[in-house]
Amino acid sequence: MSLRMVDLIIKKRDGKALTDQEIAFFIDGYVKGNIPDYQVSALLMAILFKGMTKKEIVTLTDKMEHSGDTIDLSMIEGIKVDKHSTGGVGDKTSLVLGPIVASLGAKLAKMSGRGLGHTGGTLDKMESIPGMRIAIGEEEFIKQVNDIGIAIVGQTGHLVPADKKLYSLRDVTGTVESLPLIASSIMSKKLASGSDCILLDVKFGAGAFMKTLDDARELARTMVEIGDALHRDTRAILTDMEQPLGLAIGNALEVKEAIATLKGHGPKDLVELCTKAASIMLEQAKIVTSLEAGEKLVKEVIADGRAFNKLKEFVKAQGGDVRYLDNPELFPLAKNIVEVKAEKSGYVHSINALQIGEAAMKLGAGRETYDDVIDLSAGIVLHKKVGDYVAIGDALCEIHTNKENFEDALKEIHDAFVVKEEPVKVLPIVHDYIK
Ligand code: URA
Repeated sequence: MSLRMVDLIIKKRDGKALTDQEIAFFIDGYVKGNIPDYQVSALLMAILFKGMTKKEIVTLTDKMEHSGDTIDLSMIEGIKVDKHSTGGVGDKTSLVLGPIVASLGAKLAKMSGRGLGHTGGTLDKMESIPGMRIAIGEEEFIKQVNDIGIAIVGQTGHLVPADKKLYSLRDVTGTVESLPLIASSIMSKKLASGSDCILLDVKFGAGAFMKTLDDARELARTMVEIGDALHRDTRAILTDMEQPLGLAIGNALEVKEAIATLKGHGPKDLVELCTKAASIMLEQAKIVTSLEAGEKLVKEVIADGRAFNKLKEFVKAQGGDVRYLDNPELFPLAKNIVEVKAEKSGYVHSINALQIGEAAMKLGAGRETYDDVIDLSAGIVLHKKVGDYVAIGDALCEIHTNKENFEDALKEIHDAFVVKEEPVKVLPIVHDYIK
């Protein structure tokens, strides 16, 4: 008997599980244009309310992954590792982690995205290095990873068309916030990108997609289960995005911080996160057999310059001007650099990452819509982090902008800092590890 979309909607509305065949019918029919948006919207809403079983989520992800091209990385020798962050403010980890793991023999063939709204994207950050190419052909991409162990590019090929259509529809039908839909959306894209191992950095807090640790943990567990069921070594860390990561927010400013971190002068939370994440990736790549051994190697390659040299090789291979890496003062500065001063003394209790990300966007560092042009020099550099003591009149941060009118952003930054008299305990950046 042929399947009918209305029967799938009714079944899910009544809380029943869809079969593999029904899920395949829905994804295939929607991508081919045989099922209208209004019926898919109804099904998505039923999924949002009734959820999906683990088996349904795995099948959905698998069908989405294979709805278009998938990247074949089999020509790359060795174990291919990939990392995905659910997005945040000041998150430059790929630019630090990538060179670290590549300098130790792991293969990172990574596709990254651009920033939108208050969150940044690795491609934009890379483009603040003059000459850096983010579009390279598949053959060259594979050759580069074989030669130097690392390439980071924009998405190539026609990957996961099902997600493009579904995500646009979810965006306008109030169905973004569904765990099965979020997990399948993220994992279908990661699986289609072809790596053997995936490390998910699932962020929680004010600046993250998931606001609470519990929600982030549930998403992480679901994604790890999907990856394992589909035969990839998938692991996740849960990391704090209440306050921005590191000190720099904004494209060129973040690249400078990534350079400093690879030279051994990174901010504590960024170093902590990159060390932990890199050691997990090294274990996934079977370069070490324990996280402790991984951490030791990570410290070594930062201290002896191998990680920084790998960054140079990577930038050179993709056409970037390596002089900027040795001389970060070459990065052009914004016309206006203004300190934001503390209005009272005390300890910094929180720095709302969402407000800081939005302020950075208003200063020119981010886009409100996909067509906006960004100012690579714009952003914010924090002088204080959560737990630090600040005296009245001390700089909390400095803003970098070419805009003349930045009152709104300044107000938002002031509101983002909460300073109280009593000291505050600083929690570790990585809250949990799921494998
Ligand atoms: N990011 C994605 O790629 N998909 C979602 O559904 C949510 C966040």
